[in-house]
Amino acid sequence: MRILVIGATGIVGAAAADLLEADHEVIRASRGSKVTVDLTDRASIRDMFASVGTVDAVVSCTGSVPFKPLAELEEQDFHAAFADKVMGQVNLVTEGLSHVADGGSFTLTTGILAREPIATGAAASLANGALESFVMAASAEMPRGIRINAVSPTVLVEAENYHASFPGFPQVPAADVARAFVRSVQGVETGRVFAL
Ligand SMILES: NC(=O)c1ccc[n+]([C@@H]2O[C@H](COP(=O)([O-])OP(=O)(O)OC[C@H]3O[C@@H](n4cnc5c(N)ncnc54)[C@H](OP(=O)(O)O)[C@@H]3O)[C@@H](O)[C@H]2O)c1
Repeated sequence: MRILVIGATGIVGAAAADLLEADHEVIRASRGSKVTVDLTDRASIRDMFASVGTVDAVVSCTGSVPFKPLAELEEQDFHAAFADKVMGQVNLVTEGLSHVADGGSFTLTTGILAREPIATGAAASLANGALESFVMAASAEMPRGIRINAVSPTVLVEAENYHASFPGFPQVPAADVARAFVRSVQGVETGRVFAL
């Protein structure tokens, strides 16, 4: 398969791209990669697909959100979380649909905060929950046998900066998260949230 991985320089994206590359052609894209895209800019997404052409799978491992105590979260923080993590990946799907081959797939990244709370995590929870609901609904309307799933990890072993914010939470190695992307891309499931 020909697989486009957005965010392939990050912790999650690099692990997913490396594992997928064992069996597939992987095109790595991000703001700082040779194949350039800024998911917060719809025109940039269009330009990326115009240059990359048709792919069998699109994998997105991006999305940043502000972490602040609830009392300090302002409306603009929630908008920022929504604009980056949610609309960045939603626009990737809507702009990318015509560039994905029949029977292809999209796999987005959400996170445990869709279902479990932490202090400072309200904007992140909002974004992850919205994205998981989008995946559930969009899967029912995907044309040409195209599938869509989300990978929703707990905090990663490698993400040491976040460990203090997830006291007592299980941690997952990036290599395990990468396998969930392989399951989504190579499997038959759709509308699923792979939580780990
Ligand atoms: N780390 C964790 O413990 C953890 C746990 C659960 C969920 N997640 C989720 O997993 C996803 C990835 O997390 P991560 O820890 O791997 O992040 P990361 O290490 O910071 O990597 C982010 C990746 O996304 C790219 N990127 C950032 N903004 C972009 C944009 N606007 N357009 C295109 N590419 C962009 C970055 O490259 P450039 O800077 O070159 O653009 C980089 O390749 C996020 O949604 C995060 O919430 C992470």
